[in-house]
Amino acid sequence: MADDLQIVKGTKQEMYEALLPQIKALIEGEVDLVANLANIAAALKEQFKWLWVGFYLVKKEELVLAPFQGPVACTRIKKGRGVCGASWQQAQTIIVPDVAKFPGHIACSSLSVSEIVVPVIRNNKVIGVLDADSEKENWFDETDQQYLEEIVASIVF
Ligand code: SME
Repeated sequence: MADDLQIVKGTKQEMYEALLPQIKALIEGEVDLVANLANIAAALKEQFKWLWVGFYLVKKEELVLAPFQGPVACTRIKKGRGVCGASWQQAQTIIVPDVAKFPGHIACSSLSVSEIVVPVIRNNKVIGVLDADSEKENWFDETDQQYLEEIVASIVF
């Protein structure tokens, strides 16, 4: 894999449709988790230019910061805390149109206004989350949910 990522312009759906096979090709044949999470975060950041995108992994009953792209972030999040901890606890994707209205939101960056957190589930257990943050209000919707859930399902552990 030496080719640059092909970035497309278009609708959100068109961008994901172009990105998805590229992400699958990037992580195919590589078993190292950190390497794959790092490339997924980089590919999403390059295509969508979100403020922050990356992973937290469950370690000893806490979410611990894992590969990401964007400003420095909080390193540890407890179960049920913030959007990430809530997504972990509920084992569900959470879309937050305005973080100011989400009780307990953890502000890693003051620039973050909306957010989506997708749990990474293996054998009925949440083993981490994918988190994306935008400076713009109401930036994430069901289209992001559908494709991001597909992306995390393709990660091999
Ligand atoms: N806002 C998140 C914390 C992680 S950062 O946004 C990178 C939360 O409330 O869980």
